[in-house]
Parts: sequence; structure tokens; C-alpha cells
Amino acid sequence: MNVLVTGGAGYIGSATVEYLLNHEHKVSIVDSLATGHREAVDRRADFIEMDLSERDRLIHFVMKGSFEAIIHFAAYSLVGESMQNPSKYFINNDACSINLLDAAVAGKIKSFVFSSTAATYGLPEESPIKETTPQLPINPYGESKLFLEKMLYWYNQIHGMKYTALRYFNAAGASTNFGEDHSPETHLVPIVLQAAMGQRKNVAIFGDDYNTKDGTCIRDYIHIEDLAQAHMLALTAPRSGHYNLGTGSGFSVKEVIEVAREVTGKKIEVSVSTRRSGDPAILIADSTLARKELNWNPLHENIREIINSAWEWKKKFPTGYNDK
Ligand code: UFG
Repeated sequence: MNVLVTGGAGYIGSATVEYLLNHEHKVSIVDSLATGHREAVDRRADFIEMDLSERDRLIHFVMKGSFEAIIHFAAYSLVGESMQNPSKYFINNDACSINLLDAAVAGKIKSFVFSSTAATYGLPEESPIKETTPQLPINPYGESKLFLEKMLYWYNQIHGMKYTALRYFNAAGASTNFGEDHSPETHLVPIVLQAAMGQRKNVAIFGDDYNTKDGTCIRDYIHIEDLAQAHMLALTAPRSGHYNLGTGSGFSVKEVIEVAREVTGKKIEVSVSTRRSGDPAILIADSTLARKELNWNPLHENIREIINSAWEWKKKFPTGYNDK
């Protein structure tokens, strides 16, 4: 297919672009490079530096591009930042995304795939989380993603545009060429690997008094190449839908650190600090629906393999992409 990928210079976007190109799709990337990296742009794709706020340019571009599908990653994604600056999240993740939805309608796009998140569930009522678990976000980031899911529902009802909302749990790992480089880095796996590499003194564990087996938060870590596979499958899904993407297994912060010690062979010092606000104790996906309806078949579900892939990338790019 001829696919437009927004945010294709970002962490999950870059791995998905690579995956699509490896599977014979044609890809154009739109990215403002606000958080993405020029070096994370796969050279086989067309690249257009553009912000989604550029409404007329975007609509014109999509109308001229003969695209069949859009995968929309471009968004701000820091929960903590969204609690300080909600405006940034609602403007970029919602208002600017409306420009993309309108461009998609004008360009007669057949399939729209959207990066949603487990953060739309807030403090979930049940575990593992199903797609039918009530979505009650507890921060503007999660709310901004839920808004867009709702807008997609109405664009589908009114304009007939098929969409797939993919709710990721904790994206982790790397492909051979593309990995995680955020500034500032807030995610557990890259922080643990920075400590393994001696780039930080220790890992602060944000709370060890949760109601879990070892007192630390439990998350469902999913490899970015498995997320990429789900995006590709969603392009040709017969109908609109919402899917949780995770392995169905949870690992605590302490377990992740222990696996990283084994994988890297390095000492990783820890300190226990206070809870980070807005962290639910346990987030585990029930991804039965994605496996059944999208034929999703994740291939890298082992936490050791996930962390090892991130470590291999880290050794290749010790300070990230170095283009900022
Ligand atoms: N953590 C630490 N120390 C650190 C960093 C993280 O203890 O230095 C803990 C967090 O408190 C949390 C776990 O490690 O319990 C994972 O934290 P991340 O920041 O790696 O990931 P989150 O679960 O907070 O967030 C991820 C995505 C969000 C998404 C969310 C869904 O990054 O975009 O899952 O709940 F919204």
C-alpha cells in the first residue's frame, strides 16, 4: 500500500516505517522533528518536514499523495508533562490531529491507524484490561488520546473512514537500526540501560509500597517490532476497531532491573524514591481481540529478548541519535 506515516521519525514510528518497507509497502513520513530524529528516518522512505498545525499544506499534501492509508503516531506522550501543560497536549494531539483527519477525508483515505494508549484506561477497574474496560483517563495525555479515538468514531460514522485505534501498553526494545531516544528520558528500560552503561549513577525506583508481589509497579512490556506488525495488519483490517497491544504478562520494576543486570552483565545500582504521581500499580493487557481479529502474532514476547534488543541498540548508539 501507499502509506503516509506521521511521526515516522519517532521511537515506535521509525520501527514501523522500517517494518512496512521490509514488507513491500511504500512509505512517506511527515514529522516536525519536534521530538523525532532525522537520523531515525529510514532512508528508503520519502520524508517531509511538516507540522500538523500547517492545515492547508497538510490537506494539499494528502490530496496530491495518492495515499491509501495513514498511520498517525505524531503526538506528545509524556504523562508528567501533560499534567503541567495540558494545553500543549490538547492543541497538538487533538486540534492539530483534526487537520490530519480532514486531510484524510479530502484525500479519500481508506484506512486510518491511530496510536492510542493504555493511558486511556486510567486506573483500570479490572486486570488484565480488555477493550471494554471503562476508559477513564487520569491525565491530559490519556484524555487527549481518548478524544481522538472518539473523533475517529464520528469521522467513521459520517465520512465512512475506517479506523483502527491501537492501545499500546509499554513499548520497549529496538530493531537493529532504530531504538529509543527521548530527551529528557523518562521510560524505565532506557533509564536502566543508561545506568548499566555508567551514564547515570543509579535507577530511582518510584515507590516500593504498591500492592504488588514486590511492592513495585507492574507493566506489560511489548516489543516495538510486534507493535509494528500490528500496525501493518491494521492497514487491511476489514472493519473499524480498538485493540489492546501487550503480551498479557506483567513485570515489576524490580524484575525489569534484574533482567537488565543479567542481559548486560553490569551492576545496576538502585535507590528507592517516592511514588510518581499518576502511576497505576498494575497495567496488563488482554490482547485476545487483536490476536483473533487482526491475526496479530507477536514474536518477541520474552522480556529478556526485549531488553536484550534495547541493549544491543544502546551499545551501537550509546548517546542516542546525536542530532539534537
Ligand atoms: N519507573 C521507575 N523509575 C524510573 C522510570 C520509571 O521506577 O526512572 C517506573 C514507573 O514508575 C512505572 C514503570 O517504571 O511504574 C514504567 O514507567 P515508564 O515511564 O517506562 O512507563 P509508563 O508505564 O509510565 O508509561 C507508558 C507509556 C505512556 C503510557 C503508559 C500507559 O510511556 O505513554 O505506559 O499507562 F501512557
